[in-house]
Amino acid sequence: MTKPPDAGKPDAGKPDAGELLSRAELEALQLRRLRATLRHAYDNVDFHRASFDTAGVLPEDCRTLADLARFPLTAKSDLRDHYPFGMFAVPQSEVRRVHASSGTTGRPTVVGYTQRDLDMWADVMARSIRAAGGRPGDKVHVGYGYGLFTGGLGAHYGAERLGCTVIPASGGMTERQVRLIQDFRPDVIMVTPSYMLTLLDEFERQGVDPRTTSLRVGVFGAEPWSREMRREIEERFALDAVDIYGLSEVIGPGVAQECVETKDGLHVWEDHFFPEVIDPVTGEVLPDGERGELVFSSLTKEAMPVIRYRTGDLTRLLPGTARVFRRMERVTGRSDDMIILRGVNLFPTQIEEIVLRTPDVAPHFQLRLTRPGRLDLLTVRAEARPEATAGQRAAAARRIAAAVKEGVGVSVEVEMVDPQTLERSSGKLRRVVDLRPGAV
Ligand code: DLL
Repeated sequence: MTKPPDAGKPDAGKPDAGELLSRAELEALQLRRLRATLRHAYDNVDFHRASFDTAGVLPEDCRTLADLARFPLTAKSDLRDHYPFGMFAVPQSEVRRVHASSGTTGRPTVVGYTQRDLDMWADVMARSIRAAGGRPGDKVHVGYGYGLFTGGLGAHYGAERLGCTVIPASGGMTERQVRLIQDFRPDVIMVTPSYMLTLLDEFERQGVDPRTTSLRVGVFGAEPWSREMRREIEERFALDAVDIYGLSEVIGPGVAQECVETKDGLHVWEDHFFPEVIDPVTGEVLPDGERGELVFSSLTKEAMPVIRYRTGDLTRLLPGTARVFRRMERVTGRSDDMIILRGVNLFPTQIEEIVLRTPDVAPHFQLRLTRPGRLDLLTVRAEARPEATAGQRAAAARRIAAAVKEGVGVSVEVEMVDPQTLERSSGKLRRVVDLRPGAV
């Protein structure tokens, strides 16, 4: 069954039915959808049936939303073990599209969508873009990569659904992107925050003041970014920068979105994706407000329902503000990005905040891990601004080292490098280069 797209209809720019539910209506809907999803997964996916059986639970045992905690968690490795299509719950003839994660470590994870899944995705993405401040009739420059990555096509269909004009730029060819932005005059840009900085460099190289562009809103996600990065982008481009979150296993972009009017974390589109936060070690569900690992169960997906999928992302759930849906705090890192340096846990975003606050330093840095003797060493390689003198560079290096020592509690080396020498992002940026023996 295909739902007709509402793009271009007069109400495309208004809140949709899901956004207007009361909390009680939402929770009743969630429970209904959750029970149907558990049944669908149990009946149609061998993996889920076996894992429910092992845990001794049946779909009907979920009588309240809290009962979900009795069901088994799903890990990324479970998806990999059933590569490529073993987690699909519908016959292949019903699958309209697949996407896959990049698979930098091991096999990629493959995800599938029915036509209804694609429609739901376009709907939640349209809702996200509207929450970000986009409106029907706006021109939307999509700089997320098109292809197996969910960013480009996810943003694309959502913007069309909202009734926008899409400029499907994809990632890369930075010089051309800058020209397109000047010539086509988009209102909204959707791109990774690190690639937005690459675009910033290119504007400056071409002698164009980025504050003079037509851009009003930036919808940035797919990687962690800090509040300092928001400030930098908003000031340099004179636009509103908001956070968008998602992951391919759950749908792609459009799982949660920050509202432009509050900029206070991301509202989870809870009528389609049910969030829990667990203790990453014990797996126990934590109360709202406590930090832990984010876990999602899909509520409406057909082709590949996910049950208590462990995202690896660390955050906490907070009550709704601009919307009825609960919020998740900005994701500052994944458990796998955490660096444990001489017993101290640290995330690249903590260093980002410090680097971006330091005068005479460009917003570009890289973290290099080595083991020169018996102890690990972290070197922050930060790029000097072109106008910085040798004395200013040395002072900046000292400032960064002192701020990391004070704020994070660990000693690092800081190396100031020449302008334009660090690799620029063309999509998701890898901040950490691990040169320790045995590192992958
Ligand atoms: O990155 C989907 C996406 C595309 C989201 C475009 C937003 C915009 P994956 O490639 O499967 O999907 O990677 C998902 O990226 O588990 C997080 O670790 C990270 N991530 C995504 N959005 C954010 C964000 C897409 N706003 C993984 N902040 C997730 C921090 C994010 N991390």
